Amino acid sequence: MGRGKRKYSCMDAGADEWSSRLGFILASIGSAVGIGNIWRFSTIVGQNGGGAYLVPYLCAVFLVGLPMMILEMQTGHRLRAQVVQAFHRARSPLRHAGWIVCILVTGIIGYYLVVTGWTLAYVVFSLSGTRELFPAFTASFAPIISFLASAAICGAVISFGVRKGIERITTFLVPAIFVILTGMVLIAVQLPGFAAGVSYFLTPDFSVLADPLIWGAAIGQVFFSLSVGYGALLTYGSYFRSGEEIPRSAAIVTAADLAVAFLAGLVIFPIVFSYGLEPAAGPELAFTTLPLAFALMPWGDVLAVVFFALLFFAAISSAISFLEVPTVTLATMARIPRRRAAALMTIVVSLVGLPAALSYSAYPLHIGGVPVLDLMDEIFGTFGLSVSGLLIAVTFSWFVGPEVIWGDISRLSLFMRIVVPLCRYVIPAALVIVIVFRVLSWFLPAG
Ligand code: TRP
Repeated sequence: MGRGKRKYSCMDAGADEWSSRLGFILASIGSAVGIGNIWRFSTIVGQNGGGAYLVPYLCAVFLVGLPMMILEMQTGHRLRAQVVQAFHRARSPLRHAGWIVCILVTGIIGYYLVVTGWTLAYVVFSLSGTRELFPAFTASFAPIISFLASAAICGAVISFGVRKGIERITTFLVPAIFVILTGMVLIAVQLPGFAAGVSYFLTPDFSVLADPLIWGAAIGQVFFSLSVGYGALLTYGSYFRSGEEIPRSAAIVTAADLAVAFLAGLVIFPIVFSYGLEPAAGPELAFTTLPLAFALMPWGDVLAVVFFALLFFAAISSAISFLEVPTVTLATMARIPRRRAAALMTIVVSLVGLPAALSYSAYPLHIGGVPVLDLMDEIFGTFGLSVSGLLIAVTFSWFVGPEVIWGDISRLSLFMRIVVPLCRYVIPAALVIVIVFRVLSWFLPAG
């Protein structure tokens, strides 16, 4: 580590750090808990036959997701570097791989902020008592405005820095998410369809376990949900100077992420079954199906506000972690102040996300019949995430000495002695398989 000649100094833009381990954990939970837990998770569970999906999902969380999170956080902490610097430290030519990660992450933020914007718009609608249906919403230009507003909010938070910006806002948002969700579960428990919803959600069906596509989908969803694979937690780890108990911190973040996904399922499926809605409604579930149910429920207007606030809080704290990756990279590599880098990146992601925002607006931009947003989800949210995760897993477990990342190997705990080989062998192998199946699925007819 102590090489004399270092091409890039990590101290300029990244000098900021978390005030405490708790600040680091809350910010990381803020990153992990996002639309993925509430909107994407319930959609995927619904489309993959309910509880059937949970066994591969849980296996993927513990064998692939948690080890990857520990690797990312530990790498950031030990190398004290943002993504491009970290790759550069491994091997100088690998810095190009770091740039690939930055480009892919910029692509995902673009469309993630569009969905964040939808949640923001629905907070505003439900506050004003308007029952806006999704088709009417997307036939207007409101999705563009709310997308640009979300991008501006993220850029503003990030420009305040790690401690005064990201940490301050996540210490408010993350507890709020848990309070709202717990309250909603208490309401869902009283619904007539609670038992039916829960049994749909939680009854495992072991017959699907032989289907490799379900496993691939589970691994992809775990990466997305835990925020691993795009260097966000690597970046957050670099602001955690003491690095105290990273494995345990990662376990807490993972547990919190799982808890939110499960609690959200315990709210969404009972509502779906109580009001005779379609559990496999897909991405429209949160924005079309659930508002219909809220309209019928006692205190439905209040519930709608609270539910969309929950979605918005979860989304914005994740979007912030995405935007931090290219912002701090730009600030350190171009040696410009964080504020300016944040402003520039906000403009960049506004341009990158604009086609996705348009694709669900009065100007429905489609490519080959598919909305640009869905294409971007496939390219950056699914495929790019696996590629980027593979680059990170391989680089930091094969091209950096294990003692650099993990310290004295002979003194590792039993748990960590399992985690290190999982990072070296199991994660790269799993990701290669996921990528191969994904590519095949583009060329083979569906089914
Ligand atoms: N985890 C977030 C969610 O569940 C999305 C997310 C934020 C993410 N940062 C990330 C996904 C970094 C991959 C990598 O919605």
